[in-house]
Amino acid sequence: MIKTMQQTLFIVLDGIDGAGTTTHSKLLAGFLSLKGLKTYLTREPSSSEIGKLLRIYLKDERIPASTDALLFAADRVLHYKNEIKKKLEEGYIVISDRYIESSIAYQSSQSDEITIEWIENLNLFAGEPDLTIILDIDPKISLSRKNQEFLEKFEDTSLLDKVRQVYLTRAEKLGYSIINTNNIIELVQTEIQEVVLNKLKEKGIGIKK
Ligand code: TYD
Repeated sequence: MIKTMQQTLFIVLDGIDGAGTTTHSKLLAGFLSLKGLKTYLTREPSSSEIGKLLRIYLKDERIPASTDALLFAADRVLHYKNEIKKKLEEGYIVISDRYIESSIAYQSSQSDEITIEWIENLNLFAGEPDLTIILDIDPKISLSRKNQEFLEKFEDTSLLDKVRQVYLTRAEKLGYSIINTNNIIELVQTEIQEVVLNKLKEKGIGIKK
């Protein structure tokens, strides 16, 4: 029997605050739609009740990192089962602005007691992406662009330096593409598109020229 190749792709853009995951996820979704692909854009924390609670906790220093890790994992499993998996089954290309690598990088950087292995275990029921792209920037550059009054609890240069190292180490270990985003948006986006186009080709997913 000839097995037909799955015509969908689950893409994740991840990276430290200010690296541009939101901007580039939106641009990528627009690009893929223009290429004639059914595209679904989503983000984490998700729009679930747990995701809403997490957005409040992101501004609250009293919440322990372990609680954040547990809630992010709970939100992610729900997000995957109820949203991402469904859309993939309907034939959409799904793009998620952040996913499990955010939990690994952020929560493990906040406490020595939190291991990457524990976070991986918590996230066992969240399906794996086909492609993870890490957007990378020096936190000194990214934070200087933000309004200092509205920074969330993780938006601190020394924490983000640590978080960034975890992203880069994981990317090297797992073969994720790393794209430096300290450049003109259009150029960065073109680099992201090239990585995605290669993956589409590899999966045999055709696009409009
Ligand atoms: P962000 O994606 O920047 O959203 P917004 O643009 O609305 O500020 O913020 C999400 C924050 O949550 C970011 O600081 C990273 C953090 N985060 C974690 O710590 N763990 C996770 O698992 C996820 C998904 C996000």
